[in-house]
Amino acid sequence: MTAPHRRPLIAGNWKMNGTLKEAADLVNALVKDLGSPSHEVIVAPPFTALTVVGELLKKSPIKLSAQDMHWENSGAFTGEVSGAMLKDAGCHAVILGHSERRRMFGDTDGVVQKKLKAALAQKLVPIVCIGETLEERESQRTFKVLETQVKGALTGFAPSDLSTVVLAYEPVWAIGTGKTATPDQAQEAHLFVRKQVAGLYGDALAQGMRILYGGSVTPENVDTLMAQPDVDGALVGGASLKPIGFLRIVNFKSPAAH
Ligand code: 13P
Repeated sequence: MTAPHRRPLIAGNWKMNGTLKEAADLVNALVKDLGSPSHEVIVAPPFTALTVVGELLKKSPIKLSAQDMHWENSGAFTGEVSGAMLKDAGCHAVILGHSERRRMFGDTDGVVQKKLKAALAQKLVPIVCIGETLEERESQRTFKVLETQVKGALTGFAPSDLSTVVLAYEPVWAIGTGKTATPDQAQEAHLFVRKQVAGLYGDALAQGMRILYGGSVTPENVDTLMAQPDVDGALVGGASLKPIGFLRIVNFKSPAAH
């Protein structure tokens, strides 16, 4: 179980899914049955649904996140959305450097770093994603990849700048595949990532930073993942589109709570 000073966070990444009606139906179902969770809960709908979902979340503890942003505030960047616009639309957080963006849309570590800086300037909570591919894992390069991604995204800041940052370890081979990392694999990677952050910015920042696990998280596997000491929450894709399953994930059962 996560350390007591790191509040568990469950975030749903809806990816490119949902008409306005589907988004409203999903969020209404979550709000209706959520109650008062002791954990922090975030949903990240597609851009088009942000304001609709934000409106419906107004009296709820669930917070709103976007799935990406541009690093400039405004200008000639056709098709892009800025952090200032996300803030204006009611966002609390933004996902950055998701592996789907890295793989399909050219988000390099340098791009992620620029976006991180812009998100922090807008006082958005950045959820920075990292994670190795299957090929990298099988060729024993997992730690090297994680080190490069953590350093690439997080260098060039003061420790105090980064106090709100959340990291999400999402092994690419576990995303949308039904092949979840084992609790031991997740713990090993999270501990390694925390040590990298400590090496860059000291133990205090690293101990306070929440590291989420993402990749085929389900109601069936969330409890054992969350039982790991360095797993501070989950970034949920497919299972976040079904209200009952997502609420079960939000209300994961931790051994320490008994
Ligand atoms: P799945 O939960 O569908 O594997 O997706 C994980 C993810 O990419 C969350 O950002």
